[in-house]
Amino acid sequence: MARYRAFDWYATPLYYDIVFDAETDKECDFLEAMYERHAPGPTRRVLEPACGSGRLVVEMARRGYHVTGFDLSDSTLEFAKKRLERARRTRSNAKKPAERSPGRVRLHKGLMQSFRFRGQFDLAHCLVSSFRYLLSEDDALSHLECTARALRPGGIYVLGFHLSEYVADGISRERWVAERNGVHVVCNIQSWPAERHRRRESLRSRLVVSRRGRVTRHETSWEFRTYSARQFRSLVAKVPNLEHIATYDFDYNPDKPCRLGAERLDQVAILRRR
Ligand SMILES: C[S@@+](CC[C@H](N)C(=O)[O-])C[C@H]1O[C@@H](n2cnc3c(N)ncnc32)[C@H](O)[C@@H]1O
Repeated sequence: MARYRAFDWYATPLYYDIVFDAETDKECDFLEAMYERHAPGPTRRVLEPACGSGRLVVEMARRGYHVTGFDLSDSTLEFAKKRLERARRTRSNAKKPAERSPGRVRLHKGLMQSFRFRGQFDLAHCLVSSFRYLLSEDDALSHLECTARALRPGGIYVLGFHLSEYVADGISRERWVAERNGVHVVCNIQSWPAERHRRRESLRSRLVVSRRGRVTRHETSWEFRTYSARQFRSLVAKVPNLEHIATYDFDYNPDKPCRLGAERLDQVAILRRR
């Protein structure tokens, strides 16, 4: 049987980035649509907690938003800074100018559960379940309070995450395949049934990376906090200056809102600062 070497996939963010970058344009189109629909305004200041490899930071800046991103991982921040430098170089060589001039970018080391920045943001976003890395109610609550404080009144937080079905008794799997510059990555993510009492779900990602004929295998295991629709609503209700105004899913179709937890488990909640 093939052996997988244990590693932290955020310590080597290239493979993670190759896999998830496929969605970047679609996600940024959606973020722009949410901004125009729910929080329009002239200033376009964006905050991305847990910004990781910076794929969304750099694309939103290219679209003219002023972006502040932060993450706890030094390696992902380093990767994001290099990506930004590369984007700047490419931009200065580009024959066709972007529609708007690019926005400013600030990248910081920081924790989702305790952060504070000067000034206020129009839009904050945290997609692909990163918020579920916060394993306690106190940390999740503190995160929402920090985010609410960072938003201007009327500003929105676009929060994408998976709900958990406590009745599920099986193992679920997702698979992605992507390639960039000769690096081919197959990513299998497996999750075990959510534990209602612990509010935890165990996950494991396995990567098979092929590069110039050489194949390496890596695996990362972690836990996420679990939320039913009711548990998520009850968390948001503890933050008086945030209101849950709309929900979408990971299809990122701005014209197809849904009701939290009614059909799908992949949900994008739009929370507005009162
Ligand atoms: C799934 S990645 C998402 C990155 C990025 N938002 C994206 O969409 O590509 C999750 C990120 O969360 C970061 N992270 C996990 N726990 C964190 C915490 N408590 N505070 C800040 N960042 C955290 C990890 O270092 C990682 O970069």
